[in-house]
Amino acid sequence: MAQEDGFKKIVSHCKEYGFVFPSSEVYDGLGAVYDYGPHGVELKNNIKKYWWESMTLLHENVVGIDSAIFMHPAIWKASGHVDAFNDPLIDNKDSKKRYRADILVEEYLAKTDEKIEKEIEKAAKRFGNAFDETQFRATNPRVLEQQAKRDVTHARFTKALNESNLEELRQIIMDAEIVCPVSGTRNWTEVRQFNLMFSTEMGSTADGATKIYLRPETAQGIFVNFLNVQKTGRMKIPFGIAQIGKAFRNEIVARQFIFRMREFEQMEMQFFVRPGEEMEWFTQWKTTRLAWHKAMGLGDAKYRYHDHDKLAHYANAATDIEFEMPFGFKEIEGIHSRTDFDLRQHEKYSGKKMQYFDPEVGQSYTPYVIETSIGVDRVFLSLISGSYAEESLENGETRVVLKLPAALAPVKLAILPLVKKDGLPEKAEEIMDMLRFDLRCQYDEKDSIGKRYRRQDAIGTPYCITIDHETLNDNQVTIRFRDTMEQERVPIGKLHGIIAEKVSLKNLLKKINS
Ligand code: GAP
Repeated sequence: MAQEDGFKKIVSHCKEYGFVFPSSEVYDGLGAVYDYGPHGVELKNNIKKYWWESMTLLHENVVGIDSAIFMHPAIWKASGHVDAFNDPLIDNKDSKKRYRADILVEEYLAKTDEKIEKEIEKAAKRFGNAFDETQFRATNPRVLEQQAKRDVTHARFTKALNESNLEELRQIIMDAEIVCPVSGTRNWTEVRQFNLMFSTEMGSTADGATKIYLRPETAQGIFVNFLNVQKTGRMKIPFGIAQIGKAFRNEIVARQFIFRMREFEQMEMQFFVRPGEEMEWFTQWKTTRLAWHKAMGLGDAKYRYHDHDKLAHYANAATDIEFEMPFGFKEIEGIHSRTDFDLRQHEKYSGKKMQYFDPEVGQSYTPYVIETSIGVDRVFLSLISGSYAEESLENGETRVVLKLPAALAPVKLAILPLVKKDGLPEKAEEIMDMLRFDLRCQYDEKDSIGKRYRRQDAIGTPYCITIDHETLNDNQVTIRFRDTMEQERVPIGKLHGIIAEKVSLKNLLKKINS
């Protein structure tokens, strides 16, 4: 399946099965804003629960908060967002399409890497066992030429970003002969900075309304509550504060479905440490966070780290965890060493001390911060795209199945009476009443059993149970397993124990620590 077709199928699957709908669809939608449907919201809630428990249950020194979206506007001045939360944008004069200049260059670099890899793959096939990749990279003229061009562009790009040199950024695009994917031309405008924050007004205009911002990250709500949490929770450094909540960014390039949205949800954790110890914690959180992703079982090879070429204004180290989306490896989480920048800035702008007295060293200091910041919607997309499969069955039919981790699946168990008569629906309802208190069950009696299995496969339900005539005599049901499609007969009395164990979040949480 071509990558693009594969992605289109995922987007339409999300709509057809009640995961994600375009926002305001009856009014033709609203750019890069999406609504989550009945199955989508369950999956999203499960992702959030998995993250929250992994932070606050597995770490006794991490506690949560839920701060407001509206915050004092001085916060965004202090954090640097008013002056520096910009993306460089460029327009193509022929297609009138707008792009992020940095992304155009990053895509060019990724394409060059792909070309080099293809040359290597071809040669490896040609030479078989005798192939020496290091020697090939060092001597093949085509690879050398591509690599040299790539290295020069990469070095110029990093420098231009670090110096916010917009003219140079444009020149790189011209020199690399990057064309607009729509018009195919190189008729580019200048590169301009564009602030990503949405603003609104608080108070009525008559009494002088105040301009306030919709938060572009949840992190600042944590920073300004640092001392409240530390004091009321009697927290000792090192400790973390976790938060899940909406964030808003007026993204210039808002394509790729829920990957880049204007309203999205973040799960952020700020971990406060002694100055000088931040690199140790940075490394530790990088490992822990990658383990969290891998525990979901989508395949370890689908994840990789990507160190930042350009550090944000607040960071002294930063890495992304990338996931192989249908459109290539993309950032799903950022891990940043934010120094003491934010706390110091809030101290400066508010005039209030934001220091911590460390009883172990008998000193007050401004803590350093390691941040882990992940988008719920991007994890959602990774789960859908990483678990989507089209399979041919023995009877010649095909099935679409979401092989979601059982603990995160929207519906855990489907309860299916074989026929709509002979007391089977009543028995099924009885079982449902027994299980519904802690397992999300779905009852379905419509259509053939095969069709009902297909519907459950499509939403990722890990277990289906069938109630047949024999059930009325032996009090046993058949469990059908989504991934293997195998079936097993079990006593009704044991059902709760079997399923609850299999779908428990504990299974994922234990894997992170193993
Ligand atoms: N507090 C740091 C911060 O916000 P970021 O790298 O800008 O860092 C963190 O964002 C995460 O938030 C990203 O890795 C991504 O998962 C998610 N995210 C950012 N912008 C997004 C958008 N427009 N749509 C969906 N998710 C987004």
